[in-house]
Amino acid sequence: MEVCLDKLVIKGGKRLKGTVEISGSKNAALPIMAATLLASGEHHLSRVPHLRDVMTMGRLLADLGAGFHLEKNKAILDCSRINNYEAPYELVSTMRASVLVLGPLVARLGKAKVSLPGGCAIGARPINLHLMGLEKMGATINLESGYVLVKAKKLKGATIYFDVPTVTGTENIMMAATLADGKTLIENAAREPEVVDLADALISMGAKIKGAGNSTIEIEGVSKLKPLRHTIIPDRIEAGTFMAIAGITGGDITIKKCKADHLDAIINKLKDSGIIFRISGKSIRVIGPKKLMPVNTTTMPYPGFPTDMQAQLMSLVSIADGTSIISETIFENRLMHVAELRRMGADINIDGGTATIRGVEKLKGAPLMATDLRASASLIVAALAAEGETTIKRIYHLDRGYENIEEKLIKVGADIKREKE
Ligand code: EPZ
Repeated sequence: MEVCLDKLVIKGGKRLKGTVEISGSKNAALPIMAATLLASGEHHLSRVPHLRDVMTMGRLLADLGAGFHLEKNKAILDCSRINNYEAPYELVSTMRASVLVLGPLVARLGKAKVSLPGGCAIGARPINLHLMGLEKMGATINLESGYVLVKAKKLKGATIYFDVPTVTGTENIMMAATLADGKTLIENAAREPEVVDLADALISMGAKIKGAGNSTIEIEGVSKLKPLRHTIIPDRIEAGTFMAIAGITGGDITIKKCKADHLDAIINKLKDSGIIFRISGKSIRVIGPKKLMPVNTTTMPYPGFPTDMQAQLMSLVSIADGTSIISETIFENRLMHVAELRRMGADINIDGGTATIRGVEKLKGAPLMATDLRASASLIVAALAAEGETTIKRIYHLDRGYENIEEKLIKVGADIKREKE
């Protein structure tokens, strides 16, 4: 898939006003697309966002023998003929979430050969816990020339304890367990809404799952699953990103089609910074204050403050009236946006995984480089409030996780355009 070297040009300083509609969640769509491998037949998925990562997952599934068609946010996946069990390096290296085909392939075909994901910009992100779980369920694991080969005639239910609540690890084991013999217990499971959405999708296919959203999930294996009809939950990180944008520009943005109860940690933290919220059903009106207050946070697994919002919060507080402390505890290298924010005049010191941000009066536009998905979002948050023009290169990172972000921002008055590099 070609990497378009587009850049964004943003003229900051405007108070953004109007409404935005939140797209379907990338991190729910990806595991649920992988889950379709578990059942032969035609699956229908709604509110699927048009994102690079969704297209990459679609291509991977097609390589495995599935039919994949996405039009106007509706995906049709036909998994009647899954005749390949290998996820190649060139796809896995562009998207780590490819590892999500591991559990379903072993459950459906009795084997899977998945390239080890290799490093990623934000950290080593190993998959040892995914493999430990599958081994406990009776699979044999072999590593050969950068690939992991997983085999199991028939997976058996087991009790699996994760020493960290891995999101995709929980998802992989939950999917594998739906067709295993007997009962599987996942202890210290991830509690993210995307895990719950996957469980709901699997239950609609006939899976027997209890406790998704809690730290212990119980899956009773069944012999067969049927194709799903499912609508993806809204993207809570996209919603949080637009809340930060309303806050930093002193704007007034109504965010539609989001689920407020997925956003508690984000809303509470942004309220502490002085942002005002008016929640009514699926719409949240967000009003930015004259002056932002500093806030402290530590990223935690759900329901704590999400690591995927850490960079956006840092941009927000870089112009707060005081000093904020933000600690990143999930990934070991997720502070690369700091160097870019400093180029805009932000006053940030890093000590290990902790950043101390002294608020400055104003940020100044500058030529910037995106490094990873959420860092690119944080640069947009900063650029929209900065004085003057900011260019952000390598925005293919952004296209992985934000659907039509320029159109959505132009609709609320932003001066933003995409230019060919
Ligand atoms: C998911 O990644 C998300 N991706 C990430 O979103 C998100 O940042 C992350 O969860 C944390 O919330 C998808 O859902 C597709 P983890 P995942 O396994 O599952 C360690 C975005 O921006 N770990 O919960 O890969 C790992 O190194 C992306 O949309 C192991 O040590 O994250 C990390 O420190 C970025 N061994 C911690 O656990 C394992 O086997 C949490 O990782 C697995 C994980």
